Amino acid sequence: MYNLPAEKFQGIKTPFYYYNTRLLQDTLDAVKAQTGKRPGYHVHYAVKACAHPDVLRMIQEAGLGADCVSGGEIQASLDAGFPADRIVYAGVGKSDWEIELGLQAGIRYFNVESVAELEVINEIAARMNRTANISFRINPDVGAHTHANITTGLAENKFGIAMDLMETVIRKAQEMSHTTFVGLHFHIGSQILEMDDFVALAHRINELQDRLEAQGIGPVPHINVGGGLGIDYEQPDEHPIPDFEAYFQTYEKYLKLRPGQELHFELGRAIVCQCGSLITRCLYVKQTEHKQFVIVDAGMTDLIRPALYGALHRIENLSSREAGQPYDVVGPICESSDVFACQYNLPATRRGHLLAIRSAGAYGQIMASQYNCRPLPKGYLDKDLE
Ligand code: LLP
Repeated sequence: MYNLPAEKFQGIKTPFYYYNTRLLQDTLDAVKAQTGKRPGYHVHYAVKACAHPDVLRMIQEAGLGADCVSGGEIQASLDAGFPADRIVYAGVGKSDWEIELGLQAGIRYFNVESVAELEVINEIAARMNRTANISFRINPDVGAHTHANITTGLAENKFGIAMDLMETVIRKAQEMSHTTFVGLHFHIGSQILEMDDFVALAHRINELQDRLEAQGIGPVPHINVGGGLGIDYEQPDEHPIPDFEAYFQTYEKYLKLRPGQELHFELGRAIVCQCGSLITRCLYVKQTEHKQFVIVDAGMTDLIRPALYGALHRIENLSSREAGQPYDVVGPICESSDVFACQYNLPATRRGHLLAIRSAGAYGQIMASQYNCRPLPKGYLDKDLE
């Protein structure tokens, strides 16, 4: 249904990213269909997943907000036309210039992760004669069934403020001259497919809200549950659009929102992952005593997820359907971990064939590096290939 237009890839220098805008639009429509029937639900797209300017613009035009983790992301969001009051800003280490940029632009709120940061934001806001809206990122100590490198809500992680310290920190923010306490923020991890993990988070939030209210704090104007909804890396064509209904229904059923309270989400991967592919060319097929390698011109510098998390992305040969065999698909970088897949069944593959590494729209192009003095991969939308 969302076929890769292989014929249009011929003249383009590989490796490059291709984004299917029809799939992106259908995904955005699917999100809006769900949030549209649940008043107070708002999605701020997690810009860290993919900040291609045209992709950002489409997301902005669909009416989503932006969840940023750096000054660069705030700037990219403003440039893509996101209104400042739909931009939120998180991160454990905000530099002064980034805080200033957020205040100058008038973003909706800062997700604050420590008392030290709260104090600095208050100071800078005072100096600029502004008031900063503060939402606290709370570490809910909830595990998620995902890769250890991408769980974030456990007590041992660096993120957020411990539940037990909440009352003290909130009182502190309320007493400060240039901060207004407006919300509670959570995020338990990424690539989460078990709705029970989100149920566990909802229960923790309910407990916390009850506890805070018993102490006369709140209810706060917003609850922000972060992102984390996963996608199907194995069968992207069977599941091009994540099950947003199940996701939003989970929160609707288990999270006890207070009257008038808004619920904010920060989905990244679920929105952009399936629409992007990394297109690469086979340089050589190398036979060794033990196996056959397909050496492609994309490497871990273009897509680091396999090397960093052991992630497996589906790989397709766009130039051949001939019966093939298992290959190790590897890149040209001088690192043994520059491997996309081991003993992976592909059609008979030869020099010059185009390969697509699928589900690469999220945390693909944006995590590319110039290691080995390689140029950064470009990203094209369908319109760029007409
Ligand atoms: N909100 C916060 C506070 C986050 O830390 C993240 C992701 C998100 C939202 C968006 O999460 P998503 O909906 O995309 O799961 N590079 C890794 C993923 C790192 C995610 C970091 N935080 C990967 O390639 O799997």
